Amino acid sequence: MANEANNFQQLISHCKEYGYIFQSSELYDGLSAVYDYGQLGAQLKKNLRDEWWKSMTQLHENIVGIDAAIFMHPTVWKASGHVDNFSDPMIDNKDSKKRYRVDHLIEAHAEQLALDGKKDEEAALLKSMDELLAKDDFAGLKTLIDSNNIKCSISKTCNWTDVRQFNLMFKTEFGAVASENPDDNIVYLRPETAQGIFVNFLNVQKTGRMKIPFGIAQTGKAFRNEIVARQFIFRMREFEQMEMQFFVRPGSQMEWYAYWRDARKVWHQSIGIPAEKLRFHDHIKLAHYADAALDIEFEFPFGWKELEGIHSRTDFDLSQHAQYSKKKIQYFDNDVDPATNKPYGNYTPYVVETSVGLDRLFLTVISLAYAEEKWTKEDGTEDSRVVMRIPAKIAPTKLAILPLVKKDGLPEIARQLMDECKQSFMCFYEEKDAIGKRYRRMDAIGTPFCVTIDHQTKEDNTVTIRYRDDMRQERIALSDVKKIVLQSL
Ligand code: GAP
Repeated sequence: MANEANNFQQLISHCKEYGYIFQSSELYDGLSAVYDYGQLGAQLKKNLRDEWWKSMTQLHENIVGIDAAIFMHPTVWKASGHVDNFSDPMIDNKDSKKRYRVDHLIEAHAEQLALDGKKDEEAALLKSMDELLAKDDFAGLKTLIDSNNIKCSISKTCNWTDVRQFNLMFKTEFGAVASENPDDNIVYLRPETAQGIFVNFLNVQKTGRMKIPFGIAQTGKAFRNEIVARQFIFRMREFEQMEMQFFVRPGSQMEWYAYWRDARKVWHQSIGIPAEKLRFHDHIKLAHYADAALDIEFEFPFGWKELEGIHSRTDFDLSQHAQYSKKKIQYFDNDVDPATNKPYGNYTPYVVETSVGLDRLFLTVISLAYAEEKWTKEDGTEDSRVVMRIPAKIAPTKLAILPLVKKDGLPEIARQLMDECKQSFMCFYEEKDAIGKRYRRMDAIGTPFCVTIDHQTKEDNTVTIRYRDDMRQERIALSDVKKIVLQSL
């Protein structure tokens, strides 16, 4: 575990060094739990988003995509239950003044028990916590923390306040006109993208003439004032979600819930996440809107954690919006119900939601990809490299084009190849430094293919292609380069 933690720190440094991820406002010492994606990070993130978008919209005839605004009418959040319920139980340490999310505090203690070989105690503690959280038993949670002697990591004391609820939504003021009642101008930064889909249900269904079952997909920023924001881009205050609400006939939701649970796991595998690194975790405590929910968990360097949520949200959201807006939000289903031999008629659709954090998916991909390798060469000397084995399909740069020297007409041939390939995928051109050094740099940023143009290219139109993953090199026709890269995408 210590080694994994060490590797995780190396990964964070690597992301910064090679332009994947920077601390936000680093110039001013940073802003906690907010990150900027650099030149390579932004491209990798876009590739992941595009893969998701394609899998949802292009590959499903009954799913369409939208792009709703971040600002929404404040009543949306009243109707959705976020104003009253989107809170976490928190506890403060009176000595350090540090605030903790209760489940995180207890989980960290449980992790330590596991590391100390006290697996039974770990399991018992987590079981008690889950039961108390399910009952919203705050006094019980406080007793659990006290009886387990759980200490603050800063003050090292057990001097805790009572457990209290803390709302996670960010508020801001809307418009320039001051109102007598300051609450009139309050808007929230959306804590999930899903509500933008619910409030557009009728717009999309009618204008797109969508027939149930159908889905609406969306990607975009969400904001949560996380109390304990940690583990790099795992838990951020500003992050991006990729959500899809699938509207179904009431009563069929469990069938679709099982369908999307399996389909989403298969999708994660399709972008290179091995099946054994993914598992399902059923929720014991259900959110206020759900009749079933599970997490697709990934084994991050710091343990198994949620990557994506699959939620059966019933008709809660559409019914709430109908009630608060005083407008009818229903669907007329003229398919015939075999039980009654009559059309299903009017109903409020049920919803199965898939919701994955794009930043968390990014972290998944890079933590799988990052490797520090050492080996002994044929001459007995040691060699090493850092490599990002990002699958070619999502790698930010697909091909590096490297003229061996900056003269003798080699850059011209390289530029021609660049012009031929750059319409189809991201290429990188580099003519500085020794070729071995350039290969290492491409390994470090995760470029799956390098092509070297040398003097032989001028004679027989062949180039050396070098494969990132096994460092194999072979001679191929210059005219085959584009085809080989395209085949891998
Ligand atoms: N609309 C349902 C919803 O928002 P959620 O389980 O709260 O459900 C869905 O969030 C996904 O969003 C999570 O599985 C995670 O990948 C991502 N996510 C949630 N909070 C996050 C945070 N603070 N930082 C990064 N990603 C987050």
